[in-house]
Amino acid sequence: MLRVSGLHVRYGPIAAVKGVDLEVRRGELVALLGANGAGKSTTLLAIAGALAGRQGRVELDGEAIHGLTPERIVRRGIAMVPETRDVFADLTVLENLRLGGFVHRRTPGAFEEELERQMDLFPILRERAHQAAGTLSGGEQQQLVIARALMSRPKLLLLDEPSLGLAPLIVEHIFALIGRLRESGLTILLVEQNAAQALARADRAYVMALGTIAAAGPAAEIAANTDLEAIYFGGKARGARA
Ligand SMILES: Nc1ncnc2c1ncn2[C@@H]1O[C@H](COP(=O)(O)OP(=O)(O)OP(=O)(O)O)[C@@H](O)[C@H]1O
Ligand SMILES: [Mg+2]
Repeated sequence: MLRVSGLHVRYGPIAAVKGVDLEVRRGELVALLGANGAGKSTTLLAIAGALAGRQGRVELDGEAIHGLTPERIVRRGIAMVPETRDVFADLTVLENLRLGGFVHRRTPGAFEEELERQMDLFPILRERAHQAAGTLSGGEQQQLVIARALMSRPKLLLLDEPSLGLAPLIVEHIFALIGRLRESGLTILLVEQNAAQALARADRAYVMALGTIAAAGPAAEIAANTDLEAIYFGGKARGARA
């Protein structure tokens, strides 16, 4: 479904991503792991079309999408939940969801239908529909940004560190939700610091180190054969296929 080849991203003088190749097949949950600063968020942002200093090829279902605007990429079927977890704080939960559903503007009933789907998936958002999003707890805001991304009815969801900074119980909730989304047929590329949790649920994984892919393979193989600790502390992969 998604094929990224020869992706390079620079922030001015800094080369953040240096020749990344990865693919995500239809229905897969793929984990993208690696230490702080490895280039995981940069890779997701580049796929979503949000970065200017980018080279390389990104294909969705065989069609080139690099070079399209972020809005057009959403319309093609890729939605992203950024690590920054930004809600429009002064807008209500409902208004935040409406913004995520902008692609349905010209299809009567589609927005309402999608809204119902998200409220069923995230009951707390139905309860808080008319509350300012900035007053939600961290875990509730995370659910809101995921729901907002899903409002565009994506085929591929890019999730950047959905468990970051959340209490263990909420983390469990978020991972269970990711499992449910995946069972519903959604294809997911998941960036996580929480490698064990991500590998337990993923089909395949890529491990990034210093802007490149240091290891790749089936999630179970990566969990068994890769020295994740070394990678997280900036070392090289042991044993796994690159
Ligand atoms: N806007 C920016 N301007 C300059 N450098 C940046 C910018 N964003 C990221 N970088 C640099 O690019 C590199 C990759 O950053 P990125 O955010 O992609 O890493 P990451 O793997 O997502 O890390 P983390 O686990 O901490 O979220 C880092 O060295 C970072 O300092
Ligand atoms: Mg990041």
